[in-house]
Amino acid sequence: MELERTRKALAGAGLALALALAGSLAGCDSNGGPSAIEKKAAEMTGGEPSRGKDVIRRYGCSSCHTIPGVEGARGQVGPSLEGIASRAYLAGKLPNTPENMIKWIREPQEVQPGTAMPELGVTEQDGKDIAAYLYTLQQ
Ligand code: HEC
Repeated sequence: MELERTRKALAGAGLALALALAGSLAGCDSNGGPSAIEKKAAEMTGGEPSRGKDVIRRYGCSSCHTIPGVEGARGQVGPSLEGIASRAYLAGKLPNTPENMIKWIREPQEVQPGTAMPELGVTEQDGKDIAAYLYTLQQ
């Protein structure tokens, strides 16, 4: 009985490890590590681009935005985020810095009261991860 429980726990740990490995492999370049662009985006934001891609789907950004690389993200309510890393301004007014990008993602209504983009309760870490992914979207 005790043995059976231990065996199940071990199998569970093995699965968790396999999932963690699969996750860390996502978004790698052909050499197996993150690409130069992904590394730079992570440095700029303190976030993790490959995680940001999943987080974007969780918050439903895709219903309003077209976002390259994010499955099903073909929304037309807001602007397409294609090439957003290369843009000079966010929402037509904020200089495109990592700090401003994270602020916009988390508190658009503070930056631009009345904007059609809602506040979605994005946490600080999720905001960093999302920004990290968006900074891989170069023109
Ligand atoms: C209900 C629709 C809606 C949702 C959901 C939404 N946005 Fe937006 N977003 C907009 C609109 C509209 C704008 C343009 C705002 C403006 O210019 O005032 C915008 C602007 C932006 C911009 C600036 C784009 C540019 O071209 O300057 C970014 C970046 C962005 N959104 C990211 C996100 C992220 C990340 C999420 C999910 C956490 C999200 N949005 C969720 C509607 C939405």
